[in-house]
Amino acid sequence: MKKAVVVAGALLLGSSAVMADQKLAVEQDNFMRSIGKAVYVTMLKMGKGDLPYDQAAVDAAMAQLEADVPKIPTLFKDNPKEQVVNATYGSSEKIWQNKADFDSKVPDVIKTVADLKGKIKDQASVKMAFEAINKSCNGCHETYRLKLK
Ligand code: HEC
Repeated sequence: MKKAVVVAGALLLGSSAVMADQKLAVEQDNFMRSIGKAVYVTMLKMGKGDLPYDQAAVDAAMAQLEADVPKIPTLFKDNPKEQVVNATYGSSEKIWQNKADFDSKVPDVIKTVADLKGKIKDQASVKMAFEAINKSCNGCHETYRLKLK
């Protein structure tokens, strides 16, 4: 009886290891989108003047980046082995072939965010902050993010 349970468990483990994981892919994608909202909506649009400057929203965006960017290496620990259905962007297989290099792109973003903290005061400074942060994000995206459509 005990033996049968162990065998069934091993079979289950074996199949989940090769199965593609849409749920994980969606989780990784949603996480990036929420970071993206802080940078590509709040900061970009305020910098362009498409949204009125709002100090509280900028501070919240910066706090979110401060909290979430360091989580990227953990979030991308496992390879979902498939892309989110219908997504515009996806993950390159290179992430899991070279995870240490992928992880090494994160500290630059953390530092850029930390250096700008408390220095964004108006439309001109949020525009500069957007450009600096976007550049640091792209340091990872240019190698590890795929444009799917
Ligand atoms: C260490 C690598 C890395 C860093 C740093 C990084 N990203 Fe990403 N990002 C990815 C990968 C991989 C994807 C593709 C995965 C996905 O979208 O499912 C991605 C996708 C995205 C997407 C597209 C989501 C979608 O499908 O529409 C946005 C938006 C995004 N990132 C924003 C940011 C912002 C903003 C920063 C900087 C504050 C940042 N990322 C920093 C790796 C990174």
